[in-house]
Amino acid sequence: MITLSHISKTFPGTRRRQPVIALDDVSLTVERGQVMGVVGPSGSGKSTLARIVNLLERPTSGTVTVDGVELTALSAGRLNEARRTIGMIFQQFNLLDSRTALANVELPLELAGVGRAERRARATELLERVGLADKLGSHPAQLSGGQRQRVAIARALAPRPSVLLCDEATSALDPASTTSVLALLRELTDELDLTTVLITHEMDVVKRVCDHVTLLEGGRVVDSGALGDVVRRPQSPLATRLLPHPQAPVGEPVVEVTVGGADHDLVLTELIRRFDVRVAVLAGSVETLGDQRFGRLQLRVDGAPETVREALDYLAQATPERELELTRAVA
Ligand SMILES: Nc1ncnc2c1ncn2[C@@H]1O[C@H](COP(=O)(O)OP(=O)(O)OP(=O)(O)O)[C@@H](O)[C@H]1O
Ligand SMILES: [Mg+2]
Repeated sequence: MITLSHISKTFPGTRRRQPVIALDDVSLTVERGQVMGVVGPSGSGKSTLARIVNLLERPTSGTVTVDGVELTALSAGRLNEARRTIGMIFQQFNLLDSRTALANVELPLELAGVGRAERRARATELLERVGLADKLGSHPAQLSGGQRQRVAIARALAPRPSVLLCDEATSALDPASTTSVLALLRELTDELDLTTVLITHEMDVVKRVCDHVTLLEGGRVVDSGALGDVVRRPQSPLATRLLPHPQAPVGEPVVEVTVGGADHDLVLTELIRRFDVRVAVLAGSVETLGDQRFGRLQLRVDGAPETVREALDYLAQATPERELELTRAVA
C-alpha cells in the first residue's frame, strides 16, 4: 500500500547552519490494513518521513508509491488528486477555531467541490462515528483535547482516504484520552480497511495498537517488521525497549528465554513435562504487544547435569537464536 524506496532527505545548509541529513536511505513497506508504528527519538526524522509519504516534502532521492501510484513521478495537478487518498492528523489538531466541529469536517469536502447536502451528511456521520454526535455545533475552544483530536480524525477521513498518517496524534493528550483515541484509530483502520502510520516517540503507543513497527535512529531504519518478530529478534538497542531484559540475579546460573505469541505458555509447560527438571523463574518482564503477550524470562534449571543439558538444548531450539547464544554461554 505504501512503499518508500531508498528515501534520503538532506536539508541544505545556510550560512549559519550545516546541512542536515534527516533521512538516510530509508526503505519501508506498509501493507493494507496494517497499523505501522514509526518510533524514534526527537530529531530521528519521523515527521520528515510522514511529510514525505504525502510529498509535502520532496525527498532528495528515492521513490514514494502509495496505492500503486508512484507519487514522486506525478505532475503537481495529479499529485493533488492523489493526495486525497492520504489523510493526516497532527499533535496540535490544526482545526479552524472560527468553525464548528461540523464545518471543520466539511472543509476538505468543500475544497473538493462536494455538494452541500452530501458534505453535511458525510460529516455528520463521521462525527457520530468518532463519538461526537452531541458536539456538531461546538467550536474547538469548547472541546477537550481528546474531542478535538476526534474532530481532526473525522476531518481526515472525510475524503475517504485509504491511508491515515498520524504524527504524534496522542502526544498532547492525557492518558485516558490517549487510550481512547488509540483504540478508535485501531477500530477505524479495521472497519474502513485503512493503512495507518502512527508516528510517535512513545514506545508505549506502539505496544498498544500497532501490529508492525519501524524504529528510526539518526534518519536510518534500525529495525522493522511485525511487532512479534522485532520483539523476538531485536536488531537494535531501541528494539529491546519493547520488551526489556530483566535484571539478572547476581551469581546464579541463568538462562534467558523469550516466549510469546501462540507458544506463550507452551515452552515452559513442555520443558517441565519432557524433562525431569525443576524450573525457577528468577526475573522476568511480560508485555502485551498488540493483541499478543510476550515474556522475557530468566530461569534457573536444576536437575541431573545430563538432563539439564538436554533441557537447555530443547529451550535453545524452541526459542529465538539470541537466546540460544545466551543459553550456550551459561550452560
Ligand atoms: N525544514 C527543515 N529545514 C532544516 N532542517 C530540518 C527541517 N525539518 C526538519 N529538519 C531537521 O531534520 C531532522 C529530523 O527532523 P524531524 O522533524 O523529522 O524529526 P522528528 O523525529 O519528527 O523529531 P520530533 O520527535 O522532535 O518531532 C532534525 O535534525 C531537524 O532539525
Ligand atoms: Mg516530529
